[in-house]
Amino acid sequence: MKRPVLFTSVLLVVATAGMYAIDPGREVVRVPRPDPDMLATVVASVEELDALRSELAASFEGEPDASTFARVCKPVGARSQELADEHGWKVRQLALKNRNPANTLDPDAELVYRMMDATPDIMGLWVWAEREGQEGFRYYRRIVVERSCLACHGAKEERPAFIKEGYPDDRAYGFRPGDLRGVYSVFVPAERETPHSE
Ligand code: HEC
Repeated sequence: MKRPVLFTSVLLVVATAGMYAIDPGREVVRVPRPDPDMLATVVASVEELDALRSELAASFEGEPDASTFARVCKPVGARSQELADEHGWKVRQLALKNRNPANTLDPDAELVYRMMDATPDIMGLWVWAEREGQEGFRYYRRIVVERSCLACHGAKEERPAFIKEGYPDDRAYGFRPGDLRGVYSVFVPAERETPHSE
C-alpha cells in the first residue's frame, strides 16, 4: 500500500497511549516513539544556539563591521554545523525575510513559520516529517528579534556597509524587537527499520 503523503502540517500529539500524527488527509498514522534523551538533547542544543547569539549580539558596542559579524552570526552558523556533524542531524536557521538565500524556508518550514508568526505563544513544535527522502522528527523553535539585533537587522538605510555590499538581495531588515525573525529547524532522521504505518 502506498504510504500517505506526509507531513506538511503534521502535528505530534503526545498521549499516554502513544504518539500519533494527524495528517491533512485526516488519516491517523502511527509514528515511532521518540527517544526522550534525543528530544531533550535537541531542545537543549537549540537553546544553547539561541543564547549564544543573544550573548554575542549584546556583547559588542558601536558600529558593526565585518569583524563584528564574525563575532555574532558566524559563530552561530559554525556551532549549528558542529551540532549537525556531532549528532547526524540537519540544523538550520530559516527565515522568510532572509539575508542569505541559503536560509530560505522550505514549504514545511514556511507553514510553521506562518503559524508561529500568527501565534506568538508558540515557542517550539515537534513534527514527524520527511526531508530529502528520509523520515524523522523535526523540531522548530522561534527566533525572536532583540534590541541588539537591530544594528544589523533594523532600518534598511542603517545597515552596516559590509551588509549592504555583501548581501545585494538582503531582505532581513526592518525588524522590531519582539518580531519573529525566523525559525531554527533540527531534523533527526529516524531509524529506517521503524516504520510509522502499516
Ligand atoms: C553584526 C551584525 C549582525 C547582528 C548584530 C545580528 N545579525 Fe543576524 N545576520 C547577520 C548577517 C550578516 C547574516 C547573514 C549570515 C550568512 O551569510 O549566513 C545574519 C543572519 C541571520 C539569520 C539567518 C537567516 C538569514 O536571514 O539569512 C538569523 C536567523 C539572524 N541573523 C538572526 C539574528 C538575531 C536574532 C540577532 C540578534 C540577537 C542578530 N541576527 C544579530 C548580521 C547580524
